[in-house]
Amino acid sequence: MSLLRVENLGKSFGGLHVTNDVSLSLQAGERLALIGPNGAGKTTLVNQISGFLNSDRGHIYLNGRDITLWPSYRRVNSGLVRTFQITKLAPEIPVIDQISLAIHQREGTVGNMWRDKRSFTAVTDEALHLLDSLQLTPVSREIPANMAYGDQRLVEVALALALRPKVLLLDEPMAGVPKSEGQLVLNALERLPSDLGVVIIEHDMDLVFRFAHRILVLANGSVLAQGTPKEIRENEVVRAVYLGKGVQ
Ligand SMILES: Nc1ncnc2c1ncn2[C@@H]1O[C@H](COP(=O)(O)OP(=O)(O)O)[C@@H](O)[C@H]1O
Ligand SMILES: [Mg+2]
Repeated sequence: MSLLRVENLGKSFGGLHVTNDVSLSLQAGERLALIGPNGAGKTTLVNQISGFLNSDRGHIYLNGRDITLWPSYRRVNSGLVRTFQITKLAPEIPVIDQISLAIHQREGTVGNMWRDKRSFTAVTDEALHLLDSLQLTPVSREIPANMAYGDQRLVEVALALALRPKVLLLDEPMAGVPKSEGQLVLNALERLPSDLGVVIIEHDMDLVFRFAHRILVLANGSVLAQGTPKEIRENEVVRAVYLGKGVQ
């Protein structure tokens, strides 16, 4: 059984079919890249899967359960977590506190966080461990406003991981990251837990072809092609419509 399965998903704004008959599946541990030109409907699809947008058509299954009508918080509690194309970090709150708060949110202990000393320490330890896994220890006490942008984007990934996802949807985690910091972010993404299912929206084709096990190409809201990096690289339609001559 697939960890995540999307069947014939569709969303229209006015008369415009922004996503149309999109189907995909994701296994535990799989890395699926979602690519396509600007305006193809990638973010809309992630909004639908994560429950930020209701779908007009189709179904979404998590571990075989139909979650199509679930609100987003319930999806998060069941392990379906997303990050955003545009940063959602609180710029003035230290990283360690933001991660700790996310852990308390997961544990349902937000109201107790200043009372129970022992759980407070356990949460701080978990937050530090998580930051360490993304090589963010040096910035754990920093505020995002003072941090390099690549590190900020990784903190967003850390915030998502604090919720213990089974499926992680990453909407352009490299957006805005200068080339000089790109390798750091990619290294961290490559060390994400091996059993996690990851869907990543990304424009940088080097990164996509390095990271992804499978690639889904979206164009005008519809699936243009789906396959292994090798299949996508060799797909004539994809080359003509999207990849052009940039991909050898
Ligand atoms: N809330 C909305 N209302 C109307 N049109 C929207 C809305 N959200 C997205 N769109 C349109 O849907 C299309 C796909 O957008 P989006 O999903 O953001 O694409 P991508 O992430 O692939 O760049 C665009 O033409 C965009 O203008
Ligand atoms: Mg987008």
